[in-house]
Amino acid sequence: MKIVTIVGARPQFVKAAVVSRALAAHPGVEEVLVHTGQHYDEQMSGVFFSELGMSPPACNLEVGSGTQGAQTGRMLEAIEQVLLEQRPDWVLVFGDTNSTLAGALAAAKLHVRVAHVEAGLRSFNRSMPEEVNRVLTDHASELLFAPTEAAVENLCREGLPPERVHLVGDVMYDAALFYAEVAAQRSDLPARLGLLEVDYILATVHRAENTDNAARLRAIFEGLRRVAREYAVVVPLHPRTRGALARTGEGPKLTEGLLLTDPLGYLDMVSMESHARVIATDSGGVQKEAYFYGVPCVTLREETEWVELVTTGWNRLTPPVSAEGVAEAILEAVGTRGRVGALYGQGNAAERTVAILCDG
Ligand code: UD1
Ligand code: UDP
Repeated sequence: MKIVTIVGARPQFVKAAVVSRALAAHPGVEEVLVHTGQHYDEQMSGVFFSELGMSPPACNLEVGSGTQGAQTGRMLEAIEQVLLEQRPDWVLVFGDTNSTLAGALAAAKLHVRVAHVEAGLRSFNRSMPEEVNRVLTDHASELLFAPTEAAVENLCREGLPPERVHLVGDVMYDAALFYAEVAAQRSDLPARLGLLEVDYILATVHRAENTDNAARLRAIFEGLRRVAREYAVVVPLHPRTRGALARTGEGPKLTEGLLLTDPLGYLDMVSMESHARVIATDSGGVQKEAYFYGVPCVTLREETEWVELVTTGWNRLTPPVSAEGVAEAILEAVGTRGRVGALYGQGNAAERTVAILCDG
């Protein structure tokens, strides 16, 4: 059986790493890993392949950045060529980025079956490009690997046939279990930043609705600066956010007193997450990693796809509309804990996915 796996953005390298490992262990499977080139900086892409122990991609389509349509369109054309050459039995896609949609669409148009890992998540906010990508990908997929009960319910509500839907757990939980120990041995970033004995808050921001809206960007960074009066605040900057801060013309003022870094490699990120007092983020993956490492989380958005983190008390939704609100939510979260449960499966989501995909 031949599987073409499409990845392109940072969170997809983490998800693909565990699934590719399970595929490699399955006899009779050939995986061809295709990188769209959506993320291309060493700290957004290359570092993940080396740290996660992944084979380099079979090809990189080098589509780079662009508007939604231009980027997705370039990917669609290039992926189609790969599929025509490779003639796979399945195309495997992850999550909700433009690379996900382009992979699913290219395959569906060529009548190649699509399997979607992390299917069924919904924010019910169609202004997010990710929501459009998820819904369309799910409806183009033959196999839907749902990480949570809520995701299964969403798929059923949209009329997708139940026999296509499989509740397998979350591959990011598998990754957290596998790499936490590696990170503990290999990353000394908290020590290098002088934070081992220091209480700190870790923050990441990259969603278009936060970076491309000057009022929200300001509320977030002014809120973080207020928190920095009491705790160290570390912010690994996504390139989108670095650019948005520069465009305000007052980036240095908005970030004064914060510990800014380049995007972190995965092992350093895991290490920083697991030692933080609170994580404030608009990332999907980082919300869950906070929970995996037992750290309270403030999500700087109106809604989340990972609703079980809110109902169990690990995560509080805080739309970044004022600096006071952002600071208050973070400070209130310090020292809190939620209810513990097996929200994301048993740590074998990748094996279960591969078993269903390859053995039926
Ligand atoms: C994308 C995904 C988002 C995901 C995020 C993970 C879409 C629509 N969005 O958002 O769902 O959460 O990846 O991080 O697919 N840039 C660089 N170097 C890079 C990559 C990007 O400088 O290696 C800059 C470019 O200016 C680019 C901007 O970041 O225009 C945004 O990149 P893009 O891939 O379009 O979207 P993300 O915000 O990364
Ligand atoms: N991540 C990382 N370095 C960073 C920020 C994030 O390694 O500086 C990892 C993070 O640990 C998680 C994944 O990237 O595994 C999440 O990606 P991101 O926040 O970019 O996207 P999202 O999950 O929101 O789609």
